[in-house]
Amino acid sequence: MTDRYCVFGHPVAHSKSPAIHAAFAAALGDDIDYTAIEAPLDDFAGAWQRFISEGGRGANVTVPFKEQAYRLCDSLSERARRAGAVNTLVLGAEGVTHGDTTDGVGLVGDLEANGVRLAGARVLVLGAGGAVRGVLEPLLASRPTSVLVANRTAEKAMALAADFQDLGVISGGGFADVAGTYDLVINGTSASLAGDLPPLPDDLFADGASAYDMMYGAEPTVFLRWASERGARPIDGLGMLVGQAAESYRLWRGQTPDTGPVLAELRRAL
Ligand code: ATR
Repeated sequence: MTDRYCVFGHPVAHSKSPAIHAAFAAALGDDIDYTAIEAPLDDFAGAWQRFISEGGRGANVTVPFKEQAYRLCDSLSERARRAGAVNTLVLGAEGVTHGDTTDGVGLVGDLEANGVRLAGARVLVLGAGGAVRGVLEPLLASRPTSVLVANRTAEKAMALAADFQDLGVISGGGFADVAGTYDLVINGTSASLAGDLPPLPDDLFADGASAYDMMYGAEPTVFLRWASERGARPIDGLGMLVGQAAESYRLWRGQTPDTGPVLAELRRAL
């Protein structure tokens, strides 16, 4: 029987995940069925149970269900436990549901693919919401010299940094605490969606610095335009999207798909 997977979201019709996973399966010669399912806002657990009773083997989880998914899991990876959220559900032996989060691996893998060196880098992360919490563990595991998490609401960044204190040199604060220069600035705020830019000093990029926006679009985000004008190399979040999908695929099926061709195709279609 064909193995079934899906992405749960609400809304979910615009999701690129079905196309990405279909392309991975085609490249690997796998026979899978991957669909998008709009789960009811108040019964994510019911939607997952229904899916597995119909032969579902695993799922991706997107907004707004990542925390609900986290709560229903029988077991969690360490990185998902840290993130407090799950973007990948895996049906294990005897109907056990395992939860993981692959966004951070997607981000770190995309930085590597773009030649950005994390070891020894001074990193500034903008934002302190779920998107940032989800990537800090793999980011810190790559041994940057320091990570400053700066957020509009400084207290949230300070609390977030405190939760990851044992994994590396990390601190939190407000945008006013951003001082000195950085080798990498990652925008994990949702400000780009509104076309907003966090208030930042003009001279925060070190020589050869990169700017990464977790968002992507047909046009560069406001943040990436601002960063390019100040000499940083801009990278958008499309590669992170494909990277997190590849890591989910590996968790389900044990094989890591090649992300390059799928990313190129998505880029063409933006
Ligand atoms: P997500 O899951 O995408 O991270 P979230 O948890 O709602 O969503 O977090 C959104 C992040 O974007 C927060 O860090 C938020 O800052 P606050 O904690 O101060 O709310 C940040 N954000 C949203 N709009 C912003 C804006 N216009 N300027 C700066 N930061 C913004």
